[in-house]
This record gives sequence, C-alpha cells and structure tokens, in this order.
Amino acid sequence: MAAICSMLGWDGCSAESLMGRPRDFTHENDAFTQAETRECAEQRSTIANGEASLRTYAQMCCLRTVDPTVGLDDTLIAAQPNHCMDNSDQKNLLSMTPEEFRRLGHAVVDWIADYRSSAAERPVSQATDPGGLLERLPMSPPAQPEGFEAVLRDLDEIAERHLVHWQHPNFFAYFPSNGDLSAVLGDMLSAGLGVLGLTWESAPALTEVEDRVCDWLRQMSGLAPEWQGVIQDTASTCSMIALVAAREATTRYGAARDGMQHGDAPLVVYASEDAHSSIQKAATLAGFGADQIRSVEVDDCRAMDVGHLAACVEEDARRGLRPCAIVATTGTTTTTAFDPVDAIAEIAERNGAWLHVDAAMAGSAMILPECRDLWRGVNRADSIVVNPHKWLGVSFDCSVFFVRDDEHLVRVMRTDPSYLRTAFDQRVKTYRDWGVALGRRFRALKLWSLIRTHGTERLQQRLRRDLANARWFAEQVEAAPQWRVLAPVQLQTVCIRHEPEGLEGDALDRHTKRWLDAVHGTGRAWMTPAKLDGRWMVRVSIGALETERAHVQELWRLLREAVA
Ligand SMILES: Cc1ncc(COP(=O)(O)O)c(C=O)c1O
Repeated sequence: MAAICSMLGWDGCSAESLMGRPRDFTHENDAFTQAETRECAEQRSTIANGEASLRTYAQMCCLRTVDPTVGLDDTLIAAQPNHCMDNSDQKNLLSMTPEEFRRLGHAVVDWIADYRSSAAERPVSQATDPGGLLERLPMSPPAQPEGFEAVLRDLDEIAERHLVHWQHPNFFAYFPSNGDLSAVLGDMLSAGLGVLGLTWESAPALTEVEDRVCDWLRQMSGLAPEWQGVIQDTASTCSMIALVAAREATTRYGAARDGMQHGDAPLVVYASEDAHSSIQKAATLAGFGADQIRSVEVDDCRAMDVGHLAACVEEDARRGLRPCAIVATTGTTTTTAFDPVDAIAEIAERNGAWLHVDAAMAGSAMILPECRDLWRGVNRADSIVVNPHKWLGVSFDCSVFFVRDDEHLVRVMRTDPSYLRTAFDQRVKTYRDWGVALGRRFRALKLWSLIRTHGTERLQQRLRRDLANARWFAEQVEAAPQWRVLAPVQLQTVCIRHEPEGLEGDALDRHTKRWLDAVHGTGRAWMTPAKLDGRWMVRVSIGALETERAHVQELWRLLREAVA
C-alpha cells in the first residue's frame, strides 16, 4: 500500500485516509459502507423528526460522500430550515462542481503522471485469472454517491493487478499504441469541452481544427494536396467506409438504391492473404459475401504478389464478376510487409476498381521522407487509412481516413434530416457525412496537441530512434546461432524464432511457446506470437514511447536466457 501511495504521490496520507474507506471492491463486506449506512440512517430519522426534508438529507449524504471532509456537524447545519438550498446548490447535488473537478482533476493528473513515471518499476504484464477482477467488482451499482475517490481507489487495484501496461518501455507486443501525454491532455480538453459536431454550426471549431490538422498530417506524410482527411475511431471503421464507397463507385450508386441485388455481376474485393482481419470484416459489413473476397498470395517478402492479383482479376472478369476494390496493405500486421502500391494501382485503374491503402501502422512512418518509397504510388489510390493512435503517439482512438474524391464519399454517406439543416451547409464541411457516426467528438484536439507540442522534427526523431533500435535488434538476432529473423525488417517490427537443430514442426512450435512463456513469466517483456507459414514465431514490435536502446538490449538478454 505504501508503494501505491508513493506511486500516487500522496505521501504522508494513506490511500485509506484520503478515501475514507478501506480498499475493498465489494459493498457487502465493506465495514465502512455499513457504518456509513448506519450513520445516514440515524440522520434520516433526525431529519424526519425535525424540520428538514428528505431531499435535504439526500443532499447532505451527497456532500459527505463527494467530500469526506464535510463533517456531520456541517451537514446537520446545512439541514436547518433557514439554510434552504438555492437552485445552484441543487445543481451541485446532481453533478460534480467545477471546484470539485479542479481538486479531483489535480489528483487524476497526479495519478496519471505517477503511473507513467513509475511504469518501468513494475512488471509490464502480470498473471491474472479470467474473471479475477470481475468477481471483486460490486454486483450492483451504488444507490448512494460514493464519491470520485472510490473510482481512483478502484483504479489502484485495476492498474496494479489487472492490466498489461501498454505504455511500458518493455512493451513489445502487437503494435505500439502510444499515448503521448500531450495527446492525453488534448483528450481531456475534448471531454471537458463536451461539444458535439453534429453539424458545422453545432461546434464550428471542431470541424475546422479537424480539417486543418488532417491537412497537417497530409503534408507531414508527403501526400498530394488533393487528399482530404477526416478523423474516425479506428482503421476498421475507415476500411469499412472505404469499401462502401468503393461499392457505390463501381455501381454508380446502384447498390445504395437497390441493395446488393443491384445488377447481375457480383462485386469482388481483393486483399492479400496477410491483410488485416478488419478488411475481411469490412467487406462483409459492406455487403460483399465471403465468396466475393479474394485472398491474393504473397511473395517471398510477404508483399502482395501482383502477378497473382492480376490473374485473379482476369479470372473473375472472365466469369462475369466485377472487380470492385483492391486493398493494399502498407505495413502488414504480422511482418510489416509493404504491398507494391504502384503496381497494384496499375491493375486497379485498368479494371475500374477502387484502391484502398491500409496504412494503419506504417502511415506514421511516412512522416519520415526516407520511408516514403515504401508506399510509392499512394497518390494513385482512392482512400488511405492512417492510425496516429499507433506509433505516432495520439492516445487511442484516432484514425485518419483520407479520400481523394470527398464529394463521392459525401454522396454515399449523406443524410439530411430537417433537424440537422443549417444555413451554412453549402459552405462548410459536414463531417457526419464522411462516415457512419452522427455525433462526433473533438478528437482532433488529440492530434493537434501532439503535433503542436512536439513539432514534426521531434516526432521524426523518435520514430528514427525506434527504427535504429529495431535494426540493432535484428542484427543481434541474425548474428546469433540458432536464432532467425524470419521476414525483412521494414520498420520497427522484427519477426524471430529460435530454431535449435533437429527441432521442427509441432515440436518447434512448443519450443517457441515455451520460451515466450518463460520471458512473459519474468514480467520484464511482453511480445505477441503469430503464425507465419503455418508455424509460430514471435513478433518483437519496438516503438513504445519510453523504449530506449537499453530496454532492447535487456530484451535480447532475456530471450537468450529463456532458451539457454
Ligand atoms: C494493418 C492494420 N490494419 C488495421 C488494423 C486495425 O486497426 P484498428 O484497431 O484501428 O481498427 C491494424 C491493427 O493493428 C493493422 O495492423
């Protein structure tokens, strides 16, 4: 507990004393709750017998629980009839006041700052049983206010024992989901403003900051001026929107009118066998049947085999099917392979198909001019998705969807109910017509905060640091006997396997899982396994905000220890 207190920066006062109750999630066994209930009951009878109303009693309890320093004497005084509450007091009863927010907000910021600054001191992940937390959580919601302190207390327990720490320097799993604290502040501001972009008029700055910051990202990524961006929640959503737009482009808006029964030539979507699972889902949700989704083979570098793509398209055309969309992935999830966008664009153009580029991960790398050759031809695409909520550093969620023909997108997505019409509609961007959601939050503030705070050069510097660390790591692995790097290291992910002589097939898989479990068991690194050509390997994804060369060196030591 002392450690938690110092992590929270609340030296000199225990969490219990601050919160006013013991650290236990369950109401039933909570002595404090019972005492509190008794206390409240006693007061209820005092009040009922006296002059105060039950309403004032509720107000007292609320005051006491929101601020435990409010003593019983204070609440009793407040309950006297000549201390009648005015309207502003009643309002305070029903929501957190700005003054309370100020006090607790400081505690929250302290909590986050302490959590981040002490990240390296705790294990990156810990063993927790499924349901282990659930059974400790109260079965029913509290009928009476418990105060925000209860939430912070819950979080101590949650963060301490039931989370993997994604912002930890030893986090090497999935792809980084960096939440730079500047973006976290932007997120707070967005929530604090609490505005909704239903129309331009409903929150003019929301639209205009988003417009401008998407254009900043476009410039930073070296994209041509005709690209227009919009912020969505995830790449999965963006890819679904892209495929709906593709469907409507190919059918001249026929599918929207008549549904997928439109015309007699089924529409086909093409993506490589290493495309992210969100593409399959997007295609299904956009109305393409499983039979209409082609899985194109990959070459030795695990990039889409353009020869096979051309053959699939030709074969489909011969059978009377219509190529509708091709999804090129730049930075695949398993190995960060880059599909050859230029060559794919050629085929898309020749066949009148929409080209969508899934650059969810690798889009961040494009702020580095030296990486841009990896997506050469991207300006020939129709849509692109980039996730600043991955490597770039915007706290989840923030996915930028770029389109070249925004008029087409708006035509596909537009709704126009009378209650949303404004006098400005012809002159402004209406972002609800660029995607699925009507209500849009001020997400742009996160991206805006990150870019303004750091500027492009510092962001570039961090990404270059990660690329150099990945190269260093790959060199160590390649040079070590029995270790193998399994795919070209294009960015910051290194796919590795330890292959002792004579071990293959299932035995090799068991060996891989064994050493990975051993490393995870130390709590000092976390990676994700994945299958490559039917066999398990381990992805080492370097690029958390705090990951320096020393952490990668330590990882390499741990890996060798685990197989020794
Ligand atoms: C290449 C690629 N596309 C799409 C996604 C899905 O991203 P999101 O979680 O934003 O939907 C991922 C996630 O890692 C990815 O790697």
